[in-house]
Amino acid sequence: MEEYNKIKEATAYIQSKVDLVPVYGIVLGTGLGALVDDIEVVAELSYEDIPHFPISTVEFHTGKLIFGLLGGKPVVTMKGRFHYYEGYTMKEVTFPIRVMKLLGIKKLLISNAAGALNPDFAKSDLMILEDHINLQTENPLVGRNLNDLGDRFPDMSEPYDLTLIDRARRIAVQHQTRVHVGVYVGVNGPNLETRAEYKMLRILGADAVGMSTVPETIVARQMSLPVFAISVLTDLCYPGHIEKVKIQDIIAAAEKAEPAMTEIMRELITQDEL
Ligand code: HPA
Repeated sequence: MEEYNKIKEATAYIQSKVDLVPVYGIVLGTGLGALVDDIEVVAELSYEDIPHFPISTVEFHTGKLIFGLLGGKPVVTMKGRFHYYEGYTMKEVTFPIRVMKLLGIKKLLISNAAGALNPDFAKSDLMILEDHINLQTENPLVGRNLNDLGDRFPDMSEPYDLTLIDRARRIAVQHQTRVHVGVYVGVNGPNLETRAEYKMLRILGADAVGMSTVPETIVARQMSLPVFAISVLTDLCYPGHIEKVKIQDIIAAAEKAEPAMTEIMRELITQDEL
């Protein structure tokens, strides 16, 4: 079946089950699901029930679309996202973003866990993305272009929305939360980087490294959706600080920063005007 028809079928199924029309789409990263607790939930759909939706495989991802009100605004949240390293194609990874756009979202907010390459960063700090470097080996836009959804050669000169970045910084100051603003580099994973690779990524100009967010942002920007993305820095990846990382440590560091990150996301949506 044509990709666009799959997207439309998934959208139609969701609309047949859920009345709420979401204005904000939210994608929550590894260990960062707590924002969901702030949502006045109206409906939940398991990924496995939605036609053509990929099904999440990693055990700590629950795999649900959650519809409800956050700060009084209608939102749809992906609890559990798809990563390229799980074996999905980039079309599958970004399928839910296409569907959220057709459901009506006007802005996309993303969180992720990332390694800190910038030596000014500390574990469990937050970094707002102002730009990214795509080092992933498959691009979600390769193939026949879905002209109804966006351009063949979409502009990427401002991938992350400057107004949202500004507002998030102000919110962080008000809440005395330490946030950085920087460049995220997206890699395939699933292995973490070698010391030589961390050094290279820093030389390339990145402040943080992770295995997500870039494909979602590319697809959202192709559809002209403003994007806000924020990383929780779960491990230090600069010379002298590189230590063996375990996924449990990454999740623990993410959970520590989660309340501050959640606050920023919630306030950003509460204060937003379209
Ligand atoms: N590298 C890549 N992805 C990551 C890292 C890292 O060090 N930490 C969390 N996600």
